[in-house]
Amino acid sequence: MAEKFVLATHNPGKLKEMADILSQFGVEVVSPKELGITVDVEETGTTFAENAMLKAKAICKAANLPAIADDSGLCVDALNGGPGVYSARYGGEGLDDKGRYMLLLNNLRGQPTRAAHFASAIACVFPNGKTLTAEGRCDGTIAFAPMGEGGFGYDPVFFVPEKAKTFAQLTDEEKNEISHRGKALAIFAEKLATYLN
Ligand code: IMP
Repeated sequence: MAEKFVLATHNPGKLKEMADILSQFGVEVVSPKELGITVDVEETGTTFAENAMLKAKAICKAANLPAIADDSGLCVDALNGGPGVYSARYGGEGLDDKGRYMLLLNNLRGQPTRAAHFASAIACVFPNGKTLTAEGRCDGTIAFAPMGEGGFGYDPVFFVPEKAKTFAQLTDEEKNEISHRGKALAIFAEKLATYLN
């Protein structure tokens, strides 16, 4: 695949994961930063799919290159699916990743269920207006305490029963094989290959 794609995210954790996964499928990517693009897209959608499309459209327009966006988040059963699309802003602007997952652990104290899943929606927009989309999910539970050093965001508290580890205790390769983003990008890569052929 000779065409280059811009990844419509400024989140370094996501950028690395998406670039690693897409490189396995022969998809070459650049970051908005490498192109000098600083567009900050307001995530006003109510679903992951809507927000992914908003980001991909804005970055495609700014770069005049095909753009790939991920919108993702953690959906916790005991919080009625929250923080969901608000995962990056859970607890307000003042918190960092650790502040957010510690708040989550506090808010889950005494809850009868700790079931949760990560969800990822991928949107790709081409300068000719063509769009491609894909979704992925990974089921797990919220751990009782943070474990592991890898990954980003809520990884230290997202426990995957079949691995008996949190996302933060898996290697990058192990996480990408089973993660919401890994699954969504694999489906996307198949659709992309079909479209480009
Ligand atoms: P957004 O898609 O930019 O709105 O941000 C999604 C937010 O969800 C991230 O900032 C993380 O807090 C969280 N998130 C999404 N995917 C992952 C993941 O793979 N591991 C940990 N946290 C994630």
